[in-house]
Amino acid sequence: MNTKPIGIFDSGIGGTSIWKEIHSLLPLENTIYLADSINAPYGSKGKDAIINLSIKNTEYLLEKDCKLIVVACNTATTNAISFLRKTYNVPFIGIEPAIKPAALNSKTKAIGVLATKGTLTSELFYTTSSLYVHGHKVIEQVGDGLVELIEMGRIDTKEMRALLKTYLKPMLDANIDYLVLGCTHYPYLMPLLLELLPKHIKIIDSGEAVARQTKAVLEKHDLLNLQHTTSKNQFYTNGNPKILKGILNDNVDVNYLDF
Ligand code: DGL
Repeated sequence: MNTKPIGIFDSGIGGTSIWKEIHSLLPLENTIYLADSINAPYGSKGKDAIINLSIKNTEYLLEKDCKLIVVACNTATTNAISFLRKTYNVPFIGIEPAIKPAALNSKTKAIGVLATKGTLTSELFYTTSSLYVHGHKVIEQVGDGLVELIEMGRIDTKEMRALLKTYLKPMLDANIDYLVLGCTHYPYLMPLLLELLPKHIKIIDSGEAVARQTKAVLEKHDLLNLQHTTSKNQFYTNGNPKILKGILNDNVDVNYLDF
């Protein structure tokens, strides 16, 4: 059981930012990463569509005998994880925007959250925000178009810069000191964000926390792989394998999947 893989899925290549954190914390774990790029972006779809896509991804990973599933997508987590947990008998780890550390540490009491429409309009996001946001100004911004450009590999481009400048302006006007990246694609925008934002603004995401939580849940269920052999990491996409391979920056095999 313990050598079975961890399954990880996202609407596309963004969840590899989470795969990297998990692989670095748990290098012995075998993994299967599924990029449903053909259906990206999830963020502009309705809740039912996001649940149906999450079911399809989960069932694929369960057929591959995964012992735990990481929903490496804020949009799928905030819309579908409670359904997945009720329906399937494996542990699920999800990811949500890191509102809590931002709210606890903000000095200006103004926080920016960049995420998809699906995440920002979800009940789970609303519930988590209400727990931690007390008297803060929260500038929520839908990152329309960002996922599409990242999926095409057009990251350091004029059009990306122009979109980011537009999205960051209201946050800068509100004097934020924390920017929460609420989409697993956005860590790939870090070099541009660092260039566009004043240095005192901290940019945070939930990637490391998800890796720590994955470890804790594997420990709790006695599922950690303790065999000291090199891990097997498989990547599948129904989009362009070259783009997925490029973003992984690693010597890995990426397979096209008609899925
Ligand atoms: N990477 C995803 C997220 O964390 C989804 C982006 C999308 O497909 O819209 O929200």
